[in-house]
Amino acid sequence: MSEGKPLLQALNGATLATPPVWLMRQAGRYLPEYRKTREQAGSFLDLCYNPELATEVTLQPIRRFGFDAAIVFADILLLPQALGRKLWFETGEGPRLEPLTTMDAVERLASDEVMHQHLAPVYETVRRLSAALPRQTALIGFAGAPWTVATYMIAGRGKDQQAGALSLMRSAPDVFAALMKRLEDATAEYLIAQLDAGAEVLKLFDSWAGALANDPVAFETWCIKPTQAIMRTIREKRGDAPMIGFPREAGSLYLPYAQATGVAAVAIDTAVDPVWARDTLQPFVTVQGNLDPALVVQGGDAMDRETRKLLETLGAGPYIFNLGHGITPDADPRNVERLLKVIRG
Ligand code: CP3
Repeated sequence: MSEGKPLLQALNGATLATPPVWLMRQAGRYLPEYRKTREQAGSFLDLCYNPELATEVTLQPIRRFGFDAAIVFADILLLPQALGRKLWFETGEGPRLEPLTTMDAVERLASDEVMHQHLAPVYETVRRLSAALPRQTALIGFAGAPWTVATYMIAGRGKDQQAGALSLMRSAPDVFAALMKRLEDATAEYLIAQLDAGAEVLKLFDSWAGALANDPVAFETWCIKPTQAIMRTIREKRGDAPMIGFPREAGSLYLPYAQATGVAAVAIDTAVDPVWARDTLQPFVTVQGNLDPALVVQGGDAMDRETRKLLETLGAGPYIFNLGHGITPDADPRNVERLLKVIRG
């Protein structure tokens, strides 16, 4: 029964003797089998849109480590591409999008119907995973939060992108607001389609929320409110689906986010003090996080020590073990094995 899955129990507010564990970017370049399948696919985007191979790479870390959750292999930037924007990946540099700065461009973004057609392979991957996963493993669907996706769409790249979005917000507030509204609606529909395909949990990545964190009003308007709206649409159309929110580098604003958005869990980044998270956030939500990915590269006693500290601090309440950000390509898979031994005893 799905209620028996440890991840779902923790999201439901249960404190488990052994917390469920999964890692951000658990399907990725640190695994030799991932590198092989990615080569077979051609490019990263070809891999994302190939249900057979995307299912395979999603399952690879589950087979190897037995994580409590699988996250569908895709990317937050597939959504802007599905809305009609050009997307490509520069080797060694990361994603590129054709920059969007005019109302005309916002108005020409694709309809929900065209978007769903484009994303059909992702839904097919979710369906295949839903059938293939071990009984105890929960399936997570995801999207980028509107603010984070907008920062990439406006600046077109992963460098100084918050500056581009912040500047458009001030110089053309109507264009910025129209883009955010389209993303809010499209993101809710995208997440609902993943639920319909078999996802049991959703995650919303607001990786650049920190760029709004020095202005509580901007944070409320462009991080909290869109998340609330997405949660409301999903609840109205499909009832309660557990959501993990990741307003990365939100600092003290993690608290209003946890209280106001309706998420079941917040993923905390590496900069958050676990003691603060325990005392301040855990009374309201399940907490997920936040081992430094650098420690999985380092391994050894340092990794063990910090892992035990997290288990002691956050494990006394509703908790999901994870990293504070994605595992990096230079991490040794043997360190992940060791990490799981420490967590599962
Ligand atoms: O295992 C998983 O976590 C599932 C798949 C997943 C990917 N990206 C695959 C990926 C998820 C959940 C994401 C989310 C994502 N994508 C975020 C939010 C999380 C975060 O890291 O803050 C962001 C900002 C992106 C955009 C993105 N995609 C960037 C900036 C990059 C380049 C950086 C990098 O690591 O290469 C990507 C590429 C990407 N997305 C890779 C993977 C496995 C690497 C591609 C490759 O194989 O070369």
